[in-house]
Amino acid sequence: MDWQEYREYMDRIRSRLEKERQDLRDRARRAKKEAGEELDKMEETWKAFASRVSEVELSEVTEDVKETAERLAAELREGYSKLRDRLGDQGKGAGAGRATAETESGGEPKPAAAREEAGRESAAADAEVGREAVYTMGYSEEFRRVLERRSAQTHASDLLPLLRQGMRVLDFGCGTGSISVGLAKAVEPGELHGIDLEESQIEIARAAAKAGGHDNASFQAGDAASLPFEDEWFDAAHCNAVLMHVPGAEAVLAEVNRVLKPGGILSVRELNTPSSFFEPDCGGIDGAWKVFAQLLAANGGHPGMGREITGLLRRTGWSDVEANGSFELFRSEEDRAFFHRFVGEWFFSEDTVRAATGHGLVAEAELDGWRKGLDEWKDRPGALAAFAWGGAIARKPGLR
Ligand SMILES: C[S@@+](CC[C@H](N)C(=O)[O-])C[C@H]1O[C@@H](n2cnc3c(N)ncnc32)[C@H](O)[C@@H]1O
Repeated sequence: MDWQEYREYMDRIRSRLEKERQDLRDRARRAKKEAGEELDKMEETWKAFASRVSEVELSEVTEDVKETAERLAAELREGYSKLRDRLGDQGKGAGAGRATAETESGGEPKPAAAREEAGRESAAADAEVGREAVYTMGYSEEFRRVLERRSAQTHASDLLPLLRQGMRVLDFGCGTGSISVGLAKAVEPGELHGIDLEESQIEIARAAAKAGGHDNASFQAGDAASLPFEDEWFDAAHCNAVLMHVPGAEAVLAEVNRVLKPGGILSVRELNTPSSFFEPDCGGIDGAWKVFAQLLAANGGHPGMGREITGLLRRTGWSDVEANGSFELFRSEEDRAFFHRFVGEWFFSEDTVRAATGHGLVAEAELDGWRKGLDEWKDRPGALAAFAWGGAIARKPGLR
């Protein structure tokens, strides 16, 4: 990276830390006085960091300036993160969503991991701060079957050619680990670490790794916004269908950036819900995608993440960002039967229907028409359905 690039990189870090500082100040004001005092103590570090970054922005700077700026940034990141954890649920703004943590083994709500998306209007950003995700898909058997059809070959094909034996890889939001085990195989005798919010998925992933003899794969429950790994630990990081569910996607990316080595690889693949489809649109069943997209958004997710990811990565300081994309088709009789069953059992389940109608996204009468349309679609020769995937491969700036 040249100095020009480096200056832009540090500038982005500064603006992210500045947002977090303001954000914590607001929350501290609403929560407890001591938190404000803690922030005051960190002001000196902030000032030293900001002044070092201005030196980076000037012109010829030394390695020493660079190192100090990075050390101070790391100190601030750690301090802010501890403070965020301490504040926990206190000081959150109005309208915060229900926590996913209800589904977690401990039963305790997790501290908010969300921060605002870059470039949004401040009012929208304020609503996002302190918001916690409602995981739209849930952890049912029906959805588990969808995840278990996946593999590294089918869902990480852009990353696989970049992996080498001996690498250390992170799969964040690994779910049932069906993709992770293929990544583990690709880097043997290197290491694959899978992390997911949900303990039940981690247990399935561990069992899959054991059954496949992937001794180099290990899995643990945890939040991708607060990873239990050292700085610059991984050669590559991967996620599939995760950021689309996370209100604070930017905070997760910043955390993944922290644990990647300079020059490390990031591979993200997310659904572009509005481009997913049923063909033909029997009984208006294609409308189900729209409702699904609205439900994702209502739960704090990002239905268009598949197409937005490259812009998000560029805005948040990643380099060498290259887009990719594909359709996952359900077109054989067997695949159609599988998808028909999944949509019937998941989209038309009591829980999903209650959530969709509760948010006023669809009326019961319309759903009845779609149910019939779905049956008609399954038996229509040549019919197909598709998940539209959009993704990107990027690098953490720095020497490889
Ligand atoms: C749609 S599933 C995808 C699972 C897997 N990547 C795959 O494609 O088979 C999304 C997963 O992300 C996990 N997840 C969502 N937010 C997370 C977070 N902040 N940290 C870790 N995992 C998260 C969910 O628990 C869920 O298992």
